[in-house]
Amino acid sequence: MLELLPVPPVDPLWNLAAEYGADERPQRLNLVLGVYRDHTGVTPVMRAVREAEIRLAEHAASKEYRGLSGNAAFNRAMLSLVLGGDVPAGRATAVQTVAGTGALRLLADLVRQTRPGATVWISDPAYVNHQPILEAAGLTVRAYRWTDHDGLLADLGDAGRDDVVLLQGCCHNPTGVDPTRAVWEALADLASRAGWVPFLDLAYHGLGDGLEEDLWAARMLAARLPEVLVAVSCSKNFGLYADRTGCAIVLGASERALRHAETALQNAARTLYSMPPEHGAAIVAAVLEDAGLRGMWRDELDGMRARIAANRAALVAELRALGCDALAGPLARQKGMFAGLPLTAGQMALLRREHAVYGTATGRINIAGLPEAQAGRLAGALVAVLERGAPERAVPAGAVPARAAL
Ligand SMILES: Cc1ncc(COP(=O)(O)O)c(C=O)c1O
Repeated sequence: MLELLPVPPVDPLWNLAAEYGADERPQRLNLVLGVYRDHTGVTPVMRAVREAEIRLAEHAASKEYRGLSGNAAFNRAMLSLVLGGDVPAGRATAVQTVAGTGALRLLADLVRQTRPGATVWISDPAYVNHQPILEAAGLTVRAYRWTDHDGLLADLGDAGRDDVVLLQGCCHNPTGVDPTRAVWEALADLASRAGWVPFLDLAYHGLGDGLEEDLWAARMLAARLPEVLVAVSCSKNFGLYADRTGCAIVLGASERALRHAETALQNAARTLYSMPPEHGAAIVAAVLEDAGLRGMWRDELDGMRARIAANRAALVAELRALGCDALAGPLARQKGMFAGLPLTAGQMALLRREHAVYGTATGRINIAGLPEAQAGRLAGALVAVLERGAPERAVPAGAVPARAAL
């Protein structure tokens, strides 16, 4: 049967990563995937994570099944980390998931069950996996403008009472552009007037302006609105990419609503993978519950953030030295791991072909993947491809970004 069917398209991001893997040019630069790299080009195991792993290896009593919600200490610690301090009983629940992706999918399933007619709004441009995850859960997707804040508020003016709006809480992937606090407040006003539910995706907190600052929007929405969904990833800020660690948080208006949400999330997990893997969650719980390890983690996270910001500043300085304000200007205003460049898919292909620099076709490069000594070479390559043709948007405003356009 399968041999008669066309092979489905390969995930475009991982396809590019594979293309990079096959590139033998010594100067090749991998700025594709959203992973942090230190100055030696390595994605390190964080010190607090390593220490927690040693303690767990020495003291973990058993690998017996945990419950369907995963590691309870992890869930408690994540609620307190994301929402800030003690969360009143009856306000929120958390279920451990298979990383941020698992949280997005379980929450999408919850939306599909509880709001079957809902449209889920995603940003244009969006994180490459948002639309596929939502559509796999059977949901209808519409796009709102992201980098134009007046456009963002205007588009979401059409979101209705049953709708859900997926918003990245900080360090937007792929643009690096976040709303100002005033725009976030206006979004909360809109949601509260229209009744739509914010669905936050938190994957980069701690890597933008600082951990508390990056969680400000999530906490503000949680304080102002009765119902909020939050998908949290521990992949980037704990460096636990391969350990698939994250959680789905639901803020609800009553204990009954939370019981409903938690059971629905558990049921969704039960049919997909039964329960999430323990290792990463046990590490995060051990780090967050121990003052010493927590301090060590915060210090290292601050160091990662500082390195990303320094990389951005170095690239901006090199671009300015080359007189290229068209790229330096937008880059300087962005934050977090990604830079969204005003380059077309064609120009990004040129960058790969002629300069061995790998970013995505939408013009996204991972600033955190830039070795210090390479800022000058990267700036030169960017200016060279920019000069080859006028930049244009890869995806028209208002359209749901085509997956193939990555
Ligand atoms: C915006 C956003 N959300 C969610 C994820 C999912 O992360 P993971 O499933 O690895 O935790 C990513 C990963 O790159 C992301 O960029």
